[in-house]
Amino acid sequence: MFVKFTPFRCAKMKFEQKKQRGETVSDFLSPERTVYDSGVQFLRPKSLDEFIGQEKVKRKLSLALKAAKMRGEILDHILLAGPPGLGKTTLAHIIASEMQTNIHITSGPVLAKQGDMAAILTSLERGDVLFIDEIHRLNKAVEEVLYSAIEDFQIDIMIGKGPSAKSIRIDIQPFTLVGATTRSGLLSSPLRSRFGMILELDFYTTEELKEIVKRAARLMDVEIEEEAAEMIAKRSRGTPRIAIRLTKRVRDMLTVEGADRIDIRIVQKTMEILNIDEEGLDEFDRKILKTIIEVYRGGPVGLNALAASLGVEADTLSEVYEPYLLQSGFIARTPRGRIATKKAYEHLKYEFPENRLF
Ligand SMILES: Nc1ncnc2c1ncn2[C@@H]1O[C@H](COP(=O)(O)OP(=O)(O)OP(=O)(O)O)[C@@H](O)[C@H]1O
Ligand SMILES: [Mg+2]
Repeated sequence: MFVKFTPFRCAKMKFEQKKQRGETVSDFLSPERTVYDSGVQFLRPKSLDEFIGQEKVKRKLSLALKAAKMRGEILDHILLAGPPGLGKTTLAHIIASEMQTNIHITSGPVLAKQGDMAAILTSLERGDVLFIDEIHRLNKAVEEVLYSAIEDFQIDIMIGKGPSAKSIRIDIQPFTLVGATTRSGLLSSPLRSRFGMILELDFYTTEELKEIVKRAARLMDVEIEEEAAEMIAKRSRGTPRIAIRLTKRVRDMLTVEGADRIDIRIVQKTMEILNIDEEGLDEFDRKILKTIIEVYRGGPVGLNALAASLGVEADTLSEVYEPYLLQSGFIARTPRGRIATKKAYEHLKYEFPENRLF
């Protein structure tokens, strides 16, 4: 199987942009790819059997793969949707490897011109997987080239300029488009309707994350106790990428301490250094909650005002930090803005004003 990359990877680009904005505070617990994720390629599950959790998604995918293989057909186009770090890219690789085809990797923001898309589409071989990450960020013109490509395996190319310009139609090899998006709501409906299957990934349970931690430890050749694996899992915010990152740091502690297996004590010591509390919150998460409680008296506060107080971009706040705080019930959304919940007050040891009206 060949893996072909476009010139630069999007995650890296995003990280560089973040760095320039000085947003590195919470990168360790960010579900997005950061520098902390280097050197873990070998931990990526290579088959559906190795892929832990997401049972519903796996069942649907496995059926589609089996049927396409039995009929000797090209697999339907698939959209993978869900928050960062849950395994969309991993599944795209698995799809290509199960179908025994090449995978071409690119991403929405990288494809600036129609010609960029046409160049990739015409280089595909029969049955190849074209993986477009952040597909919701394709620009309109480029997206239009994709429509006829995925529907009829044809593209229209403009030749020449001015009055003598003409459009010619060329055939391309049938292929499978695998799109990934963290914001499926932003996908245009003509594009969404052209996928044969939409697979929505969800946050992982502690039990599933525990299995992921144990598997990572095994592949890194270290022993880990059950309770220690569970402790890491509970701090991983439902996200395998974070679980793996934490396991790596705990393993560092194991090496430095010269112990022979990861136990609770080693996990606790690592979490203290990383400043991650028992709810899986780090300094920046606590700063968000503190700001809502102290500056905005518990809220409601609008996204932009809160982002400005914290010195981060509103998008970063809503896409990177808020999902976990919302999901775990530390903040809630009301029509007038975000509020800190009773759970947040109690966790940070503030007295909750019982009689308050939001
Ligand atoms: N089910 C799983 N079992 C084991 N490891 C997993 C699983 N899902 C993801 N991982 C690991 O988690 C990390 C993140 O996965 P991946 O890169 O596929 O996420 P993603 O959804 O593509 O994220 P993004 O939206 O940021 O592109 C990878 O290192 C991968 O090895
Ligand atoms: Mg990805």
